[in-house]
Amino acid sequence: MGGDLTRIVVTEEEIDARLAELAARIDEDYAGKELLLVGVLKGASIVMSDLIRHLRGDVSMDWMAVSSYGASTQSSGVVRILKDLDTEIADRHVLVVEDILDSGLTLSWLVDNLYSRGPASVEIMTLLRKPEAVKVEVDVKYLGFDIAPEFVVGYGLDYAERYRQLPFVAVLAPHVYGG
Ligand code: PRP
Repeated sequence: MGGDLTRIVVTEEEIDARLAELAARIDEDYAGKELLLVGVLKGASIVMSDLIRHLRGDVSMDWMAVSSYGASTQSSGVVRILKDLDTEIADRHVLVVEDILDSGLTLSWLVDNLYSRGPASVEIMTLLRKPEAVKVEVDVKYLGFDIAPEFVVGYGLDYAERYRQLPFVAVLAPHVYGG
């Protein structure tokens, strides 16, 4: 697998340290409140499981699966719900947990969709953001790292469902995806 990667962008240690900082802020911001973490499958499964273990407050988790990419490396902008929440979110504080904000199309659509259900609040935590790739402005309250607009995999991020298990974020070599 090593030959498929050109460079590590964010190390395992950097991710863990940043998640601990963000979790401390989240605990402080939601002190005395119940918080529902909404993970966006499948990529956010890794960051969700690491983030939630740093949290000390009153939290629960739920999941949505939406699809906008398929096997392509470019966002189509078409969002479909593949799996909806199990829980009602009316009057609840919701924090969407994502692995990456690329064009912003997925999160922009998702936040609008969640707001239509009458929550007390909706905020966003994303581990990664590609500022130069953003097509729709999305208000991110908790950000891990801004990265360059390169094709990255690992820590939940895939190419054709592979590489999600890497404990770090790395650039995928162009020969792998024919770039
Ligand atoms: C990725 C990522 C975000 C979305 C971000 O998911 O997890 O949900 O793309 O892209 P955008 O900002 O351009 O909309 P993907 O559709 O690849 O599904 P996955 O999490 O199952 O890999």
